[in-house]
Order: sequence, then C-alpha cells, then structure tokens
Amino acid sequence: MSPRDSVLSINDLSTRFGDTWIHRHVDLDVERGEMVALVGGSGSGKTTLLRQMIGLLAPTQGAIRLFGEPLFGGGVERERALRRRFGVLFQHGALFSSFSVYDNIAFPLRELRTLDEAMIRDLVMLKLDLVELLPRHALLMPAELSGGMVKRVALARALALEPELLLLDEPTAGLDPDRSDNFVRLIRVLGRELGLTVVLITHDLDTLTALATRVAVLGDQRILGFASLDEIIHIEHPFIRNFFLSERSRRPPGSH
Ligand SMILES: Nc1ncnc2c1ncn2[C@@H]1O[C@H](COP(=O)(O)OP(=O)(O)OP(=O)(O)O)[C@@H](O)[C@H]1O
Ligand SMILES: [Mg+2]
Repeated sequence: MSPRDSVLSINDLSTRFGDTWIHRHVDLDVERGEMVALVGGSGSGKTTLLRQMIGLLAPTQGAIRLFGEPLFGGGVERERALRRRFGVLFQHGALFSSFSVYDNIAFPLRELRTLDEAMIRDLVMLKLDLVELLPRHALLMPAELSGGMVKRVALARALALEPELLLLDEPTAGLDPDRSDNFVRLIRVLGRELGLTVVLITHDLDTLTALATRVAVLGDQRILGFASLDEIIHIEHPFIRNFFLSERSRRPPGSH
C-alpha cells in the first residue's frame, strides 16, 4: 500500500486529561475507501479520538496524519484546506437550532466565501436530494424535524463540501430500528457512490455489521484489535465478549 492511499494515520497517540490516561500508544491506519467502525465502552475515549482525528483536540503525545499530511502545526491556511476534505456528524447537537434546514446545509458553503447565493442554493438542493429529503423540507426548522430527518440534514451538511473522508459519531443512536436501518442504507449507498472513506463510532451491532469493512476496538486505553468483524469476535477480552454477546441477544437472529 503506497502512502498516498492512507487517508488517516494515527501513530503512538496518548491522551491524558488531568491525572487520567484515556489513550496509551494508540495506532490506527485507515485506507482510502474503507469503512472503519470504532467501538468501545462508554467513556473509552472514542469521541475524544474522533475530535483528535479532525484537529479539534491535540493529543498529549503522538502524531496524526490526514491524507498523508501532519494534522497539527501546518499553519492556518493549510489546516483550513485540510478541513474541507472531511465532513463530520457529531454525537450530540447535530444542527444549529436557530437556522433552518436550508441555512444549516448552506453554512459550510457560505464559509468558503467564494460561492454566490444562486450557486449555494443549487448545492443545498442537490445535497437535500442526496439524503432523500424534499425541497420543501429546506424551510423547516430543526425543532420541526423527526430524529431521522435531523440525521439526514446533518449528513447533508457534512457532505456539503464534497469531502473524501466522512466521520460519524453514533449516527444511528436514538433512532428506532426502521429509521436506523434506513439511515445505515443511505450511508452505505452514499459511501459507495461518492467514493467516501468512512470512520464511524457505533454501539449498534446492526450498524456495524451493515457498514464496517474493518472494526477497531478501543479498550484499556488501547486498540484491542483492528480487523474484520469475523476476526474481532474471536479476540478473548471481556469487553469484546460482552459487547458482541449482549448486542447479539438484543434482536433475535433474522428479526429484520
Ligand atoms: N475535554 C475533556 N476534559 C476532561 N475529560 C474529558 C474531556 N473530554 C472527554 N473527557 C473524558 O474522557 C473520557 C472519554 O470520553 P469520550 O467522550 O471520548 O468517551 P466515548 O468513548 O465517546 O463515550 P460514549 O460511548 O459514552 O460516547 C471520559 O471519561 C470523559 O469524561
Ligand atoms: Mg462518544
């Protein structure tokens, strides 16, 4: 694998908050076109790692490269250029509550300061269509949307700048099983059609099974395993055993 195929590369990363180490010596490499699922117990540091991947938080030690370039220390312009190449769906507070659907999706486009309003309008409508929403939904406010629609609008906004890398933190949390299945299908289809590399954090085994080409398990401050799901479930570790057994038993096999 040549270096240019590496989209995300984390090398010997450690994170400490106060006296507590959250990560110790974490390594993770994501290649172009992969859909990597990051799983781990609550508080194991998944969201923290995601924030580090996109430069919102500097690790205590270690290095992160995005698209082969170091994430930190390259100057404002270079960081801005790097930021355009990924989109994020955050775990909480996905949308700006005082902005309409239209203005939420337009936000990253307006930030570019290079597009006129007619172009922004076309792009917003295109993205709405991409996530299978209707033009009339553009006028709604976030409080008027269902949980599933909020996720779709947030996804449209994350895709506004046509990123190569999409990061999703618990994309199906809080959705009922049907909405969750639909959203997973949308992510899978868009991922393929747009040639995206995806990193997703999830607690949901159905989401993971449907999407992940590889699974990284975070536990005991480190990566317990990074492999295909078939290989991961054979790793002897209490978290892995509990996660897959308890999640398995939640829905009987073949229930959907
Ligand atoms: N800025 C911060 N300052 C201090 N501690 C923090 C900070 N951010 C996160 N933490 C702590 O780091 C740990 C990991 O948090 P994180 O949100 O990354 O977990 P998570 O794996 O995403 O959990 P969940 O599955 O519940 O979303 C937690 O104990 C959290 O309280
Ligand atoms: Mg989290």
